[in-house]
Amino acid sequence: MAERILIFDTTLRDGEQSPGCSMNTREKVELAKQLARLGVDVMEAGFPIASQDDFEAVRAVAGSLKGGPIIAGLARAKDVDIDRCWEAVKVAERPRIHTFIATSEIHIKYKLKSTQEEVLEATVAAVTRAKRYTDDVEFSAEDAHRTDQDYLCRVVEAAIKAGATTINIPDTVGYGLPWEFGDRIRNLMSRVPGIERVVVSAHCHNDLGLGVANSLEAIRAGARQIECTINGIGERAGNASLEELVMALRTRKDFFGFDTGIRTEEIYRTSRLLQSITGVNVQPNKAVVGANAFAHEAGIHQHGVLQTPLTYEIMTPESVGVPKSQLVLGKHSGRHAFKKRLEELGVELSEDDLNKAFGRFKDLCDRKKEVFDDDLLALVGDELLTSNQGYRLAHLQFTSGTNIVPTATVRLQLHDATCQESGWGDGPVDAAYKAIDAITKVPGKLLEYQIRAITAGKDALGEVTVTVDVDGRRVIGRANSTDVIEASVRAYLNAINKVVVRQAPANAK
Ligand code: KIV
Ligand code: ZN
Repeated sequence: MAERILIFDTTLRDGEQSPGCSMNTREKVELAKQLARLGVDVMEAGFPIASQDDFEAVRAVAGSLKGGPIIAGLARAKDVDIDRCWEAVKVAERPRIHTFIATSEIHIKYKLKSTQEEVLEATVAAVTRAKRYTDDVEFSAEDAHRTDQDYLCRVVEAAIKAGATTINIPDTVGYGLPWEFGDRIRNLMSRVPGIERVVVSAHCHNDLGLGVANSLEAIRAGARQIECTINGIGERAGNASLEELVMALRTRKDFFGFDTGIRTEEIYRTSRLLQSITGVNVQPNKAVVGANAFAHEAGIHQHGVLQTPLTYEIMTPESVGVPKSQLVLGKHSGRHAFKKRLEELGVELSEDDLNKAFGRFKDLCDRKKEVFDDDLLALVGDELLTSNQGYRLAHLQFTSGTNIVPTATVRLQLHDATCQESGWGDGPVDAAYKAIDAITKVPGKLLEYQIRAITAGKDALGEVTVTVDVDGRRVIGRANSTDVIEASVRAYLNAINKVVVRQAPANAK
């Protein structure tokens, strides 16, 4: 059997740091379950010291996955971070503390205002403290790619002597070129005593679009763990993309000769779930998971693929789980068939959530002739993952047309109370948003508005994604309906609810 490359997924930590990608605890747990089904070896669930919300989310993820991946939490090389991290991850069956400190001259001088010797001491102290809690300790030398090679060797050697079991080499600012980054790993492998006892890891950012290439080169140089994210989300231009990396290793196994534990058929579903939760969609030409990744437009290509897919396809859509858009269910389908199809799509719901989703499915069947897998995923993702707390839409009425003032009346329900307001505006959506603001007293500033049809046909579900600024916080809301005004209203409410729920700890998560 081929040697295995460990996949360390940091979608819930580095990925979540990218603009517009923040997730609440419930969303993180849902995604974590899917990452476990995908087969990641290590899942970095968050940065517990960053906030109470982060801490709760890491603890919830750590407590909800049985028999699954290692659950890591991030901690700066400080006692207080490490202690807090352990509190959050200790409920996991296999917890890991991931501690880091910057080692490049530029970071030490300007960010840490420290010295190389102090950073070396902090490294040893952090790893030693983490070791008091668990055997599984990862150490990262932040900005390693821009760190002096000799000094990097000293830091890594000290971390190993203190007990680190994984040594991570980040290209924090995505500056490296593949051959340089590979040489850096090779240099460590040949010079650092004890390095053969630990797993060497690479963590590459994508500022020059080289995150995946640098990670692959690190593997060639001896790295056996790669840190990456679904859809490549992450700080600035993002992190190395998990799906691209895994499919490169699989498709070019003839060259690399390694396996991963990833169930590649789960890739597309995981990518879609993340898009659904965050509202951040991948571009159509995104490798592996983009809408056009397996679309053949030119006649000559289509002809070739019909003869044999090998002509223009280096991997099959099935191998990454791209579903054939098929009619699955209709108005006569029962609850059992609905549940079974969701399970086939990898969605497991509690009885309560299943009943709610089935109710929405029946409503959808009344409005839409054909229901596809994508409709089901959208319906379940939007309704159940994000919007079951806070305000709910009880009634919506609007008038609009040429030469009349658009108006909307909205009734919302919060727990047992209902409240109704009317508003007018530039159009029915603007009018409805003003009515909602009057009810919630949480005025949101609409920054972005996107609408798309989930499947084909005039009766298709319209999916609306909004980005709203609420008191300086950027939140994303998403909803779908065959009525696009209703979808717009529910998407806005979904965004506002994320803030309302956070502000009211009694109701929170
Ligand atoms: O990019 C980076 O250096 C990081 C570390 C904290 C691992 O994310
Ligand atoms: Zn990073």
